[in-house]
Amino acid sequence: MNPSNDPSWLHGAGVVVTGAGNGIGRALAHRLARAGARVAVNDRDATACTAVADEIGGYALPGDAAAEDAVHELISQARQAIGSIDIYFANAGIETGAHDAEADWERSWNVNVMAHVRAMRELLPDWLERGQGRLVVTASAAGLLTMLGSGPYSVTKHAAVAHAEWVSATYGDRGITVQCLCPQGVRTRMLPTNEVGDVVFGQGVLEAEQVADVVIDALGDDRFYILPHPQVAQYYATRATEPDRWLQGMRRLQHKIDNAAPSGAARPIAPKINETTGPRS
Ligand SMILES: NC(=O)c1ccc[n+]([C@@H]2O[C@H](COP(=O)([O-])OP(=O)(O)OC[C@H]3O[C@@H](n4cnc5c(N)ncnc54)[C@H](O)[C@@H]3O)[C@@H](O)[C@H]2O)c1
Repeated sequence: MNPSNDPSWLHGAGVVVTGAGNGIGRALAHRLARAGARVAVNDRDATACTAVADEIGGYALPGDAAAEDAVHELISQARQAIGSIDIYFANAGIETGAHDAEADWERSWNVNVMAHVRAMRELLPDWLERGQGRLVVTASAAGLLTMLGSGPYSVTKHAAVAHAEWVSATYGDRGITVQCLCPQGVRTRMLPTNEVGDVVFGQGVLEAEQVADVVIDALGDDRFYILPHPQVAQYYATRATEPDRWLQGMRRLQHKIDNAAPSGAARPIAPKINETTGPRS
């Protein structure tokens, strides 16, 4: 689908970015519009969605990008607005923190995983007929490693990676390209600003615009994993080959988080943090 590493091939491409009212999605929408793509901007926050669409001269499609009916509606509206969809950025995601309620698992599963399954159900028939189409999933380093403090986030991001892999393995030879973005900390509303965030991310936090640049570059070579923090590849390898050593490192990190609770404050049982790195020490 992409003839070269030159982003000029994006000129005129029809793209949908979900969760584009803020953060990484917003930065992607800006970068794609600058490359000349026809951008459909989605977000469940209608004000943010419209603002970004106005900023970039794109099409605002406010609403949920996860529930089955909503995904059907979003993709129909996108086709009306931009014509054929060449790239679908399944970027919207949620992080429910340390909560372990059924409802948190359910919401995380719905937005972080089923949204992608449902989008592919809508997109695949057209893409297979055309012999081309591209899905870019915003998963997370938590989908390759883990995220201390949030079971639902860790598990559902792993599932998002697994689904992306499955689609690539199943349809990759029929013209469907799948790419999986797995960043660690990115300075968005999702990033924790307390000392727990400091322990976990240190100096390694990227701006959303830096992540968007890495994504645009990666569109040029079709690589499956897009890793704006390259060290994630090493952590992922350690997790696979030395799982006990890797888990030991994760526990050490959990201890540091436990000890970083503000003095006088109750020690968090399962603190809410965003992304978990690999072992640092
Ligand atoms: N910020 C990080 O450190 C980080 C790291 C790795 C992965 N991610 C992933 O990046 C993606 C974007 O997150 P972000 O950091 O830009 O956060 P963000 O909160 O700034 O932006 C997420 C946007 O998604 C929207 N959204 C949430 N659920 C939606 C739904 N059902 N339908 C439509 N829109 C919805 C929100 O309204 C919000 O505008 C998420 O999938 C997140 O898990 C973030």
